Amino acid sequence: MISSFTSSIVNDSSINKNRLAIFASGSGSNAQKIMEHFHRHKQIEVALVVTNNPAATVLGRAKSFSISTYVHTADDMQDGHLLKRLVESGISHIVLAGYLRKIPSKIIGGFGGKVINIHPALLPKHGGKGMFGINVHRDVLKQRDKESGMTIHLVNDNYDEGQIILQTRCPVLPGDTPEKLAQRVLTLEHANYATCIEKWILRRNSKMIS
Ligand code: GRF
Repeated sequence: MISSFTSSIVNDSSINKNRLAIFASGSGSNAQKIMEHFHRHKQIEVALVVTNNPAATVLGRAKSFSISTYVHTADDMQDGHLLKRLVESGISHIVLAGYLRKIPSKIIGGFGGKVINIHPALLPKHGGKGMFGINVHRDVLKQRDKESGMTIHLVNDNYDEGQIILQTRCPVLPGDTPEKLAQRVLTLEHANYATCIEKWILRRNSKMIS
């Protein structure tokens, strides 16, 4: 029922301020950078932070920006409650930032083409089910890659397979541990995710208007 009317209710961002929902499951250091970047931005605002983890640090970060939060259950994802909350909050775009659940097709479909993710490696390598957090960096070292980096991509129904928007690279150095490499990649993420989201949204809006 909900999915059938979502497309007409999802915020028309060519007219209104673009309203982001950030989905995060843990620390939320990328979410922090995004909230800082769009604080008092004229066209884009972070309107909601969504998490599956009641203990996630990202909740405190959202509170410090007075941004609403929603802690969802596994049922909320499937029975339409999460989608309903997104629609009621006037969300126009979904930003995944360290979110460890698969987004149901109903939500991806409802936000057609307006769900974005960041992955801490150079996709299509080191992506797919189970490739998250430190596992990714372990895999890069195991494969003896000479470089790593981050990928920002659109989200479709398959893990880490949506259209790539931006990749930036860093070297893998002799003596790297997964933790050292993770920190180097995270620095790239912090430097690029918010500005990439901004360009992606504004470019998309201008195409819709012209
Ligand atoms: C980042 O490395 C991101 O690429 C991945 O999860 C991590 C989240 O880190 N999807 P944080 O919670 O933003 O600190």
